[in-house]
Formats: sequence, structure tokens, C-alpha cells
Amino acid sequence: MEEQDQRARHVAIIMDGNGRWAKRKGLPRAIGHQRGVEAVRKLVRAVEPMGLDCLTLYAFSSENWRRPEDEVDDLMNLMRRFIKSDLPEFIANDVRLKIIGDWQGLAPDIVEMLEDALEQTAKGARTLAVALNYGSRQEIVRAARLAAEGQELTEEALDRHLYTNELPPLDLLIRTSGEVRLSNFLLWQAAYAEMLFVDTLWPDFTPEHLQAALDDFAQRERRFGGR
Ligand code: FPP
Repeated sequence: MEEQDQRARHVAIIMDGNGRWAKRKGLPRAIGHQRGVEAVRKLVRAVEPMGLDCLTLYAFSSENWRRPEDEVDDLMNLMRRFIKSDLPEFIANDVRLKIIGDWQGLAPDIVEMLEDALEQTAKGARTLAVALNYGSRQEIVRAARLAAEGQELTEEALDRHLYTNELPPLDLLIRTSGEVRLSNFLLWQAAYAEMLFVDTLWPDFTPEHLQAALDDFAQRERRFGGR
């Protein structure tokens, strides 16, 4: 591989555009989400060859409960199937699963599957962090409460109480589908992250797109407020 100026260790993605992808093809939204899972699977396989330590994906926000019940059910069923079908591959490929968000509030069978998957992948070298029932403001309030309980309301203490506490600092945040907003995702963690907004709809997002994003990142000059 070519020498890069700086390597991204932690990339997070707001996977957006499943619905529009399906609509453009005259297909049900559920198919868009299914194809979205396919895109996730291919990307997870690319984490190791691309030299990433952590990939964080926004799969279900605390606001997504407002979607029609059918769609919420579809997404939850996709999650069940994804964990079941891909867990052996995570284990074989040394991928550690991490869940961020209030995931204990999901259906009991999903919580159980996730607990099992977390346990079985705990020793993995690279991390796939999946945001489930996640909202960044809620995460910050929770962290602030915990920090205050410890009588230590500092940046460092708050950082330690975020769901992301043992993940590397966020280097790059990508959103697909042409929307330019953060939608309550990693607001604190993105303070110094580079951002990339691409028009590609999530089901069309491939490892090649991620590689292009990493190449773009490698060229950027990050100053963290200095000069
Ligand atoms: C945005 O598309 C996508 C979501 C709300 C869910 C993302 C979920 C997946 C890709 C599948 C589940 C993930 C895993 C890890 C199994 P949208 O429906 O908001 O699209 P639209 O804005 O075009 O309507």
C-alpha cells in the first residue's frame, strides 16, 4: 500500500438512503433495507484490509421508533437475521462487536442475541460498533449524570462515560444520500472529526467508496484548533 500522510483509525457512517434507493427502483422500502444490510456486510469484510481499527454504523436511532410499526419490525428482523448469519464470520475474522446506545431497551430476544454476540467476539482485534436505539443528546446527558455522580464534571470524565469510551477517537464521519446533517449521531465525538457527505445512496455504497473516503482523509490537514 502507498504511504499515507495520516491513517484513519475510526470511521463512523450514517447509512442513509435505503428508502430512496428502493423507491427509485419501484421496490418496497423493506428491500432497500435488505440491500442496506448487504452493503454493511461487504464493508465489514473490508475493515481489516483497509487498516481500520473501528467502524461505527448508525443502524437505529432513538428517533427511528417513530417510523411505521411495519418498518420498525422489518429493521428489527433484519438485525436478528444479521446477527445470526454473520456472527460466525465476525468470530473467524477477529471482529469484535460493540453496541452503542440504549440497546438494553430493545426486544428481550435481541438483547439476548446481542449479549451472546458480544461475549463471543470480545477478543476481536478490530471493532464493529453498531449504534442501536442510539441518540447522541441522550448519551451526553447520561454521561453528564454519571460524571456528576462521581463529582467530576470535566471533559475527560464525561468522555469516559460515553458509550464510545474505549473506542479510538473518531477520525472521519461519513453520511450517504446527499443529506448534510448529523441527526443526533456522535455530536460530542465529532468535535474534531473530518466530515464527508456523499450523494451515493446507502445500498450502493461499496468498499471502493470507503477506500476513496480514506484516501481523501489521508490528504486532509487536521489542525485540532492549532495552526
Ligand atoms: C436510512 O435509510 C437507514 C436506516 C434508518 C437504517 C439503517 C439500517 C440498515 C442499513 C440495515 C440494518 C443494519 C444492520 C447493521 C443490520 P432511510 O430509510 O432513512 O432512507 P430514506 O431517507 O431514503 O428514506
